[in-house]
Amino acid sequence: MRAVSIFAPAKLNLFLAITGRREDGFHDLVSVVARLTFGDTLRIEEGEPGRFGMTCDDPTVPCDESNLVLKAANAFAAAADWRGGATFVLEKKIPMGAGLGGGSSDAVAVLRALNEGVGAGQALAPATLTGVAASLGSDCPLFLHEGPVVMRGRGERVSALPAGAASRLTGRRVLVFKPAFGIATPWAYAQLAAGAPRSYLPAVKAEARLAAWMENPDAPAEELLFNNMEPPAFAKFVALPVLLEQLGREFGLAPRMSGSGSACFALLPEGLPAAPIITLIQGAWGKSAFVTEARLT
Ligand code: C5P
Repeated sequence: MRAVSIFAPAKLNLFLAITGRREDGFHDLVSVVARLTFGDTLRIEEGEPGRFGMTCDDPTVPCDESNLVLKAANAFAAAADWRGGATFVLEKKIPMGAGLGGGSSDAVAVLRALNEGVGAGQALAPATLTGVAASLGSDCPLFLHEGPVVMRGRGERVSALPAGAASRLTGRRVLVFKPAFGIATPWAYAQLAAGAPRSYLPAVKAEARLAAWMENPDAPAEELLFNNMEPPAFAKFVALPVLLEQLGREFGLAPRMSGSGSACFALLPEGLPAAPIITLIQGAWGKSAFVTEARLT
């Protein structure tokens, strides 16, 4: 296998409706997800047969078997009956506990690279690869796709957003920002379950809302934005709604939280300088707040 470097993009949930709890303990959702021009880089080098190892430039990232990168490599080897080995060198840019899909994207970068690297004879069929991705995490399958997608089920049913709707998202300028603290996804889902049934948006309503946006060619990306994981997160982490409201008042933005948080984002009009917005964010959340400008892909 040749050494390769692969880009592992972050994602944003532009529309996220958690519709209810399933028998298996997971939640059903309807979500529109776009990937970003911002993300991690993963270099994959050939390793000793049957052995996987990883290093990361961020010392806070665990490089043991708990990392999804190594879980993905092991899951791929088992599914493809592949006996090779690899070393993964992760350049980490996407913050953790952010709802930006960093770990999931890294894992899928591994799956994509190995699936190409093993050659046609041993490569997994797309449906099998999707199954392996889904077994690693609910947010993994979406990263096997290009362009904005609609995600359903617990995240394993992914389809491309129709071209007309996708064109209203792709290329949009976005500011992504996260406070120093993260939010654990299981905690966020548990809060929704505790507030059931009020906390869920019934699937019929979620689909109707999404269809109305998709079918109206004049509806801008701003009208799609929705996330019913916000109320419990905002109730506990008041710094989030306080800043989002301020950004609305001072810059006319309509910022939202991504996924289960704690990262938030705002679509930026072209030509609006980002510097004063970043100054406001860092004034409110401190210099340790993460801020980056990117575009939807
Ligand atoms: O699939 P993933 O490992 O990302 O899920 C982490 C946790 O988030 C799950 O254990 C579950 O508590 C919750 N979750 C959920 N429904 C989803 C995705 C995640 O309840 N669709």
